[in-house]
Amino acid sequence: MLRLVVMISGGGSNLRALLDACEDVEFPARVVAIGADRDADGLAHAEEYGIPSFVVPFNAFETREAWGDELVDQLRQWDADLVVLSGFMRLLPPRVLAAFGSALINTHPAYLPEFPGAHAVRDALAAGVSQTGASVIVVDGGVDSGPILAQERIEVRPDDTEGTLHDRIKLVERRLLVDVVLDVANGRIDLSRP
Ligand code: GAR
Repeated sequence: MLRLVVMISGGGSNLRALLDACEDVEFPARVVAIGADRDADGLAHAEEYGIPSFVVPFNAFETREAWGDELVDQLRQWDADLVVLSGFMRLLPPRVLAAFGSALINTHPAYLPEFPGAHAVRDALAAGVSQTGASVIVVDGGVDSGPILAQERIEVRPDDTEGTLHDRIKLVERRLLVDVVLDVANGRIDLSRP
């Protein structure tokens, strides 16, 4: 069983997809803890599924590094094989990256390297592109710049708003995320060589 810790900042719909997948006894991964950088709405999923959760509030620390040190301490308690950033909206300091290496993955609502950053859906709409996408990547020191593990194109419709487009992207993101976790668990993705 691959032990997952999932980190969120928001509603956690991708997290929920993973929790649902893990309900299947045949699925070779389990979410052992859910973490957040704030009092995120998605922590309600932890309660519903009976999974431990923790919050390391970014604003409670004087520096990003101090916040990162506490995050590493919390994450280490769970003996995770894979840390999944799923709508986690903070850049991680180097100590967190060093602690987990490439066993740290992230979902992103664009076809990377297009539209990195915190406003990928808005940026795609503003650019007037006819297609955007969804990606699952390994986290590195940059902004959404790590090796791509899976991605898929999604059409932008003329009447799309940020909300409608993001909802369609998330449908794909959830599937890609579950597939990547499955592939990591089965050894089809080797994160020591992403
Ligand atoms: C997802 O679309 C995720 O890719 C995005 O936040 C959303 C979280 O949704 N993350 C980023 O934009 C990171 N740069 P959720 O909380 O409903 O899973």
